[in-house]
Amino acid sequence: MNLPFNRSKRVIAVLLLLFAAGYGSFSCGHSSAQPFPECTYDSVSNTWTPADAALLPDTGRGALIAYGRDLFIRTSYFFGPNGKIASLSNGMNCQNCHLDAGIRSFSNCLSAAASSYPGFRPRSGKVETLIFRVNDCMQRSMNGDPIDSSSKEMQAIVAYLRWLGNAVPMKVRPIGAGLPVLAYLNRAADTLKGKYVFESRCVRCHGANGEGQPRPDGTGYIYPPLWGNNSFNDASGMLRVSRLAGFVKYSMPFDSATHAKPSLTDEEAWDVAAFISSRPRASKTFPDDWPDIHKKPADIPAGPFADPFSAVQHKYGPFTPIDSFMKAGMKKPIMHP
Ligand code: HEC
Ligand code: HEC
Repeated sequence: MNLPFNRSKRVIAVLLLLFAAGYGSFSCGHSSAQPFPECTYDSVSNTWTPADAALLPDTGRGALIAYGRDLFIRTSYFFGPNGKIASLSNGMNCQNCHLDAGIRSFSNCLSAAASSYPGFRPRSGKVETLIFRVNDCMQRSMNGDPIDSSSKEMQAIVAYLRWLGNAVPMKVRPIGAGLPVLAYLNRAADTLKGKYVFESRCVRCHGANGEGQPRPDGTGYIYPPLWGNNSFNDASGMLRVSRLAGFVKYSMPFDSATHAKPSLTDEEAWDVAAFISSRPRASKTFPDDWPDIHKKPADIPAGPFADPFSAVQHKYGPFTPIDSFMKAGMKKPIMHP
């Protein structure tokens, strides 16, 4: 064999190694040396774990995701009444209802947003894309107008949501995704009892008239409004007493409730939800909602209904008789004109 050649090869290899080691240590702390932070999913326990957004690199995909996260946290700064980009929504932020930038399990967590869309939804009767779903919250929860689907902002929000749910297989919903479902009360939720809960537990932050507390600089709220013209409108999912109760139970009061240690009883959560839901708010009509009325959940207060129960019962319950009626495959006996 050719010894000198082999030796020179070895020298080059050593030099390369030294160079690599040197390069490595010089670039220490540089973001390109870090692995890209990814959220993880464990299929055995059906649990999801978010990655640390602070580790996102400030270039390329990392920067787009971080921008989407910022839009999610400070929606009003970008799209609110005095929005930097456009005035599309009320003063609320996505994060107001999807806590901790959408990563807090059981607090309307968005771990399953990517795995659920595109997907069929009975409200629209269509296969919806993630963009469509985000704009649903823009138009209903934020009482606003849709974000242009081809804009950098929509791409960023979608990139953020896809990053959260990247590891979750399609159609799978990890434990803690979305809103928890509370057991039905065997009575109607009570707005008077709810008013008492509101006054004793919620007023200090959300205000005596549920008006919230605006930021002095006009870029949104310190405490978001629960009703009135600046809150979610009457076509939003949050208006459903079951959704509101499930949110409030494990998330409010903001400074004390956690999933492990909720602050309200189920009854208090249902009753305060009924009270909030009974208050006046902005109204928007979506005539194409629920094309198949047999697919309407029991607590959608707007008719027409596929059962004989009143609109009031559809709003406040008791819901068990409505569910039983629908489950039995029964049909409304008489259709009044
Ligand atoms: C007023 C409260 C509220 C605000 C503000 C809000 N949302 Fe929602 N969002 C909801 C509710 C309620 C649901 C339905 C949760 C459920 O039924 O489990 C929902 C569902 C979603 C879903 C579907 C999640 C899934 O797992 O299927 C996405 C995506 C979403 N919201 C994104 C956003 C974005 C982005 C914003 C800001 C532009 C936003 N939301 C603002 C209340 C809100
Ligand atoms: C310590 C202050 C505080 C108290 C007390 C409090 N909240 Fe909240 N609430 C907040 C904050 C802050 C947010 C928005 C969270 C965010 O943006 O991270 C919020 C958000 C909400 C939302 C979703 C956003 C909206 O405006 O609709 C609802 C619903 C809500 N609270 C209901 C209640 C109810 C019901 C009570 C009483 C049982 C209550 N809160 C008590 C601070 C509070």
